[in-house]
Amino acid sequence: SAPPPKYRIGFSQCTNGDAWRQAMLAGMKKELSFYPEVSFTIKDARYNSALQEQQIKELLRQGIDLLIVSANEAEPVTPIVEEVYNRGIPVVILDRRTTSKLYTAYVGGNNVEVGRTAGNYAASLLKQRGQVLEVLGAPGSSPAVDRHRGFGQALAAYPGVQLVAQVNSNWERPSVLARLPAVLRAHPEVDLIFAHNDRLALGAYQVCKQLGRQNQVKIVGVDGLPGMRGGIQLVQDGVITATLLYSPGGEEAIRTALKILRRQPYDKENILGTMVIDSTNALTMKLQTEKLGSQQQDIQRQQQLLQQQRDTYASQQTVLYVLAAA
Ligand code: FRU
Repeated sequence: SAPPPKYRIGFSQCTNGDAWRQAMLAGMKKELSFYPEVSFTIKDARYNSALQEQQIKELLRQGIDLLIVSANEAEPVTPIVEEVYNRGIPVVILDRRTTSKLYTAYVGGNNVEVGRTAGNYAASLLKQRGQVLEVLGAPGSSPAVDRHRGFGQALAAYPGVQLVAQVNSNWERPSVLARLPAVLRAHPEVDLIFAHNDRLALGAYQVCKQLGRQNQVKIVGVDGLPGMRGGIQLVQDGVITATLLYSPGGEEAIRTALKILRRQPYDKENILGTMVIDSTNALTMKLQTEKLGSQQQDIQRQQQLLQQQRDTYASQQTVLYVLAAA
C-alpha cells in the first residue's frame, strides 16, 4: 500500500520558556506521536516580534505545508502571517492572535470570556463592593488586550467595584516585582488583584507579602496549570484565591492541523472553555489532572512497546531476506 503523504508542520512560538508553553509543546508531541509521517519544526521567538517574523520567513524558505503560530504581539506579526496564508499555506493560530482574518483556523481560549469570568467572580468575592487592581499581560499581545476588555465589561455591571489601577507586565513575574510595589503603596485600599496569568499572580502575592498586605488582598490569576508550581497548587496553598482555567491546546492544534492537511472537515474557531478554579474544586481538579497524567504515561509505554515490536519484526524480516538470498 502507498505510504501516507508526508506533511511538514512549522510552529512559530512566541516564547517557549514557561511551564504553560511547555505543557502546550508536550501536548503537541503527544498528539504528533500518532502521525509518524509528519515532520515538525518549532522556532522559539523568545518574546521578540521581529525575530518571530524572521523565523517564519525561515520556515517558508525551508518549506512547510502548514504553519502553527502564537503571535508574540498581534500587530507586528500580522503581515508575515498574512503572507504565508496568501501563498496558499494553511495557518493555524494558537492562543495569541494576529489582527487579521486571514487564517485557516484558530485554536485557543476566548480571552474576553476569561476576563469577563474573572470580573464576575471578583465582584462576587467582594460582595459587589471594593477596589480592584489589574496586572496585565504584555501590551499588544491579544490575550492581554482581550482579558482586559472582558474584565472591564464585567465590572461595568457593578458600580460598587472600582478598577483603581493597572500595571503592565511582560507576562513574567520579575516585571511585577519591579512595578507593583509603588502602585500598591499608592493604593492602600486595594482588595483584589486580577493578574493575567498565574506567574504574575504569584509575583503579586510576593509583593503583597513584602508590604504586609497578603491577608487584605485577594488574588485571581489565569492558566490553572497542574503540577508543583502551577495555578491549581497556588490555589490549594492559599497563595491565590482563584485561577481561571486556560488550556494550552497543543493536542487540539495538531488535530486541527491534520484535518486541514488531510482535507477533512474542520471548524475555523476551536474555542477551549474556561472555568473558575478555587478552594471548592481545586482538589478535584488536581486529582483529575494527576489521573490524566498517569494515563498519559501508560499510552507512552504502550507506544514504546509497539515500537520495540516493530523493530524486532523488522530485524526478523531482514534475517528472512538474507536467508532467502543465500
Ligand atoms: C504563557 C502565557 C500564559 C498565558 C498565555 C497568554 O506563555 O504567558 O501564562 O495565559 O501565555 O498567551
